[in-house]
Amino acid sequence: MRRTLLIIGGGIAAYKVLELIRRGRERGLAFRAILTRAGAEFVTPLAVASLAEEKVYSELFSLTDEAEMGHIRLSREADLVVVAPATADLLAKMANGHADDLASTALLATDKPVLVAPAMNPMMWNHAATRRNVAQLKADGIAFVGPDAGDMACGETGAGRMAEPAAILEAILEAIRGRLQPASRPLAGRRAVVTSGPTHEPLDPVRYIANRSSGRQGHAIAAALAAAGADVTLVTGPVSIADPEGVRVHRVESARDMLAAVEACLPVDIAVCAAAVADWRPAETARGKLKKDQAAPATLTLVENPDILRTLGHHDALRPRLVVGFAAETDDLIENATAKLARKACDWVLANDVGGSSGVFGGERNTVHLVRADATPEAWPEMSKAEVAERLADRLAEALDR
Ligand code: C5P
Repeated sequence: MRRTLLIIGGGIAAYKVLELIRRGRERGLAFRAILTRAGAEFVTPLAVASLAEEKVYSELFSLTDEAEMGHIRLSREADLVVVAPATADLLAKMANGHADDLASTALLATDKPVLVAPAMNPMMWNHAATRRNVAQLKADGIAFVGPDAGDMACGETGAGRMAEPAAILEAILEAIRGRLQPASRPLAGRRAVVTSGPTHEPLDPVRYIANRSSGRQGHAIAAALAAAGADVTLVTGPVSIADPEGVRVHRVESARDMLAAVEACLPVDIAVCAAAVADWRPAETARGKLKKDQAAPATLTLVENPDILRTLGHHDALRPRLVVGFAAETDDLIENATAKLARKACDWVLANDVGGSSGVFGGERNTVHLVRADATPEAWPEMSKAEVAERLADRLAEALDR
């Protein structure tokens, strides 16, 4: 059942919320109400409690209420907060973040969507101060229903009449349908590490060997895993794109630093290696800048870097349950990806054909095949890197739940 926290402000329109509660309950909504002191001048707690079949709250410093429920829980346990009637004073408090009574405190403490049904005299509704407050609340993401125009209880005519209960109810149901779908978090409770970007392998304090990886695909994967509920650490080489939301970011330069940072994240359920790690690094890193007039090294001696994906795939004690790598191939895509799977002991490889297509490097789109050790390869259609990431997150969640 969907729970609405209904905050009843002090206006003559408060009598209409009794009808709202009644009709809402017929449509399967549950109401818990906060009655402001001014609201209690227009409707009685008994009338509200009888229709809602729930206790009505009104005091911020009520010892019994705080012990039983607490104002924070009151606002968090609802799916939606509705303010009706929303007086000019309540809107002003909301717009300015006041918390001096139970209603305003619950509104400030909530992490749920808020819908307001304003009701006031037309002069008050059109006053510059109210206009400012309404604009601020809209910018803050507060939804409005009404007010309607027409004859007011005060005898004046104009905009300010509270929307009818049927309209408020529709707005509540709309908000619930559109915005309150429970977010799908199939990776909640899982830990993941993702590598992304290039590595920089230093020659001296100012020069390095690098590649053109943008980090877009790896960052998108970290974001998608986090959006699916995983606890994600992104270990990234130097990139110029923004950090993805909701992930811990660990910045590194070289392959060796990247490996150390990844190993420090273990144990994890999922490891996705999307970084374009340099296969080689200069055997020596000069301590000072190599000068032009010094004898330049005739040949650059390179040594092999650790393979992070392979290290994870072969990890004895702390192998992640699912180890996923990437393979950029120009030909024999599936065959090469399958060989890579075996060589690096990983579970899945996302293989992209970089032969004909342009724009994979640094671009927004990607065409990949999912090659798995225990299943036939899947060809995914061309899609954005974010979509590739989302689909991968779905597949990972399915596989971990199996
Ligand atoms: O062998 P290749 O470089 O084609 O393999 C690509 C895959 O291996 C990618 O997933 C990449 O992140 C990972 N890799 C790695 N450490 C390396 C080289 C590649 O993790 N040193």
